Amino acid sequence: MRKTTSFVCQECGYDSPAYMGKCPECGAWNSLREFRIKNQESGIKKHTSNTNVPQKLSEIVYDETKRLLTGYGEVDGVLGGGIVPGSVILVAGDPGVGKSTLLLQIALNIAAGPVGLHPRPTASSSTAGARRGTPAPATRSDSSNIVLYVSGEESAQQVKLRANRLAKELPDKNLLILSLTDVDAAVTAIEETKPAFVVVDSIQTLESEALTGLSGSVGQVRYAALQLIRVAKQLQIPIVIVGHVTKEGMVAGPMVLSHMVDVVIFLEGEKTTGTRILRSLKNRFGPVDEVGIFTMEGEGMKEVTNPQQIFLDGKKKPVPGSVLTVTLEGTRAFLVEVQALVVFSKLPMPRRVASGIDPKRLELLLAVLQKHCNLPIATMDVFVNIAGGLTLKDRAADLAICLALFASLKNLPLSKTVAISEVGLLGELRSVPMIDKRIKEAQKLGFESIITAKSNEYLFNVIKAIR
Ligand code: TYD
Ligand code: MG
Repeated sequence: MRKTTSFVCQECGYDSPAYMGKCPECGAWNSLREFRIKNQESGIKKHTSNTNVPQKLSEIVYDETKRLLTGYGEVDGVLGGGIVPGSVILVAGDPGVGKSTLLLQIALNIAAGPVGLHPRPTASSSTAGARRGTPAPATRSDSSNIVLYVSGEESAQQVKLRANRLAKELPDKNLLILSLTDVDAAVTAIEETKPAFVVVDSIQTLESEALTGLSGSVGQVRYAALQLIRVAKQLQIPIVIVGHVTKEGMVAGPMVLSHMVDVVIFLEGEKTTGTRILRSLKNRFGPVDEVGIFTMEGEGMKEVTNPQQIFLDGKKKPVPGSVLTVTLEGTRAFLVEVQALVVFSKLPMPRRVASGIDPKRLELLLAVLQKHCNLPIATMDVFVNIAGGLTLKDRAADLAICLALFASLKNLPLSKTVAISEVGLLGELRSVPMIDKRIKEAQKLGFESIITAKSNEYLFNVIKAIR
């Protein structure tokens, strides 16, 4: 038995045959840890395949319809039209955001039979942008629907309990649950059952006896990922790996993992609101600017094909302090409501409270309103909120924020007004990306009063016209 030792940086995964005090890759000190690989031959299996003969481009067969559909148009859209055979997908997110729930729902869908399609409504419906590159719906050619759910975090009973909550009828034989933390045993199970789809929840709980080091350490994470990627490519089985995010917002077992897998998607959401956004950060098989929107409900994650439902509250009567804007998430444009409340302050330092926008941006916009529009806002308490719990980084919301503040200050009902523009330090309106698409979205929903940088040069002019 040949013993090999390697030193792996816990920060970046750099692999060195000898110990070093400083990692030459990322510059971290004392970050190298020793890993002993028991047996080179059986420990880390080499990627063996018969594709080491160069092939002509024309000889390579690639069938777009072979993509596995998840039963959720929102997920398939983010993946670029479904799951590519043999691909390895990392789903990352904060603990408790709903990764296990969503993946178990997908597992249940796939196990329940050739996935019927729930395509996201296209341009003809009210909101969703047409999906680029989404292939025509197709059912899988192979008849196997066996799904293997490997859970290192929960017992099989816990997974069943969750499944009971998520599906009215459980597939009796196609969904296999394997509760273990040994990655080599998991790989063997995949090789033996040859499922159509595998979920591994989570990569940080897996470990191998072939290595020293605790589960979750870079060496273990990297080894586990390598083994899963190898079996995925060899048997053409798509594998979804769940990864936890550390406080810094990086996938633990840091960037190593995201370089290795084919697709990285993040599930984001505030704990306090039910809204969840699925976003692709890397995709070898599709665009990376797509998002999928969900809400977390009592029976699991529910798709939101019409974002207006949650971000826009259509029933109320016009109240001063609300203005609409059109924001972009990926390639989708949708309306959101900006709410502002401006009241006299009794404090020497009036309050500025921003939720859903950057507080610094709010300070800046208040200064512009004070200086260039002569609004006496410095002595006011100011609160701004984005309805529906969305966080906007889009500068196009600037004008709507300013107008909502103005509307609250002057008691003007502007809640049917749509404002789409960045506001500069000089109070000038600046153009924003994809303005035509945004305007079209607002028009489609019947809004006529749309204010943009196209027709107005300065914030001051807009405010004067409203006043
Ligand atoms: P979970 O999927 O376990 O999160 P993750 O795997 O990302 O850590 O989700 C846990 C949360 O979701 C938990 O707070 C309970 C909530 N939840 C629902 O609201 N509805 C449901 O149907 C389920 C299963 C969970
Ligand atoms: Mg989980």
